[in-house]
Amino acid sequence: MHKHPLHSVLSSPSEPVMEQATAFAPSNIALVKYWGKRNSDYNLPLTDSLSVSLDNKGTTTTISIADGQDQCILNGKPIEMHSDFGKRLTHFLDGVRPGGLCFHIETTSNIPVAAGLASSASGFAALVLALNQLFGWQCSDTDLSRMARVGSGSACRSIWNGFVKWQAGTEATGQDSFGIPLDITWPELRIGLLIVDEAEKPMSSRRAMNHTVATSDLFRTWPERTAQAMRQLESALSEKDFGTLGHIAENHALLMHATMEDAKPPVSYSTEATQAIRKKVWKLRQDGIAVFSTQDAGPNIKLLFLQPTQSVVLETFPDMEIVEPFKTHLPSA
Ligand code: PMV
Repeated sequence: MHKHPLHSVLSSPSEPVMEQATAFAPSNIALVKYWGKRNSDYNLPLTDSLSVSLDNKGTTTTISIADGQDQCILNGKPIEMHSDFGKRLTHFLDGVRPGGLCFHIETTSNIPVAAGLASSASGFAALVLALNQLFGWQCSDTDLSRMARVGSGSACRSIWNGFVKWQAGTEATGQDSFGIPLDITWPELRIGLLIVDEAEKPMSSRRAMNHTVATSDLFRTWPERTAQAMRQLESALSEKDFGTLGHIAENHALLMHATMEDAKPPVSYSTEATQAIRKKVWKLRQDGIAVFSTQDAGPNIKLLFLQPTQSVVLETFPDMEIVEPFKTHLPSA
């Protein structure tokens, strides 16, 4: 029988130790992106990636034992359990349920879900944190990160706040593929959320990623370019060199979208509004303002800047929602 990928972390299913458990996990935005898998069952990436979590912006999930079948309510609306996402969730839960136990999951996000703001990342991280309580596993954060990764790759970085590196690893079942929190705080760092389109994504990140890896020639340059971006970003973080951080993050996001546009047939998440924002950002930089953009599998843009430039960035983007990644997060050392 095919082993459930969660069993690489959990040896055997156990009985719940409580009726209900609740947990929160932050969203995260990658500065060096995860794009491309070496294994889809375990969500093992081809390269390392590095993100910053959004402090108290993310997902709160309550899980309890249910009768009959799994149910999931997302921001007040039931999820269709036969949809792609519903099946993915059921399959994930199959890895933890003893016997025929079913679950009721209530999940709410305090960030715009339509913004494609890594809601599956904070969602799977919060689910794993709540399951850890419900079953009394007392797993290490590293094991929780490995488990969240099985649900959604980027979720392995949402177990922590602050900067988190996801080490790709080389092992077949992902024992060495998990998030590592970096002991760096940057209280002046700001992330501006710009929602340009609330429509559903034309294609899930999962499908777009696999299609790009399979058909883009440009993607062949991705592993080397990503390794270089990781080295430059890690040194920029240790030197608190915001200009380098911003340039690396923006360029890496543009490269990711270029590989998608090079896929056959091409995939594009960008709209005219996306492109217009990018150009405004470039114009601000020409005028000497250190502001950069990044974009994930959706049309919306996240801006990166520092607190002293906040008012001038707001003049150009008055609708921007500002997140302070280090607002309540305290350094661990
Ligand atoms: O974790 P997934 O399968 O939703 O992939 C997300 C990938 C990006 O958000 C586009 C990049 C990243 O590193 O978060």
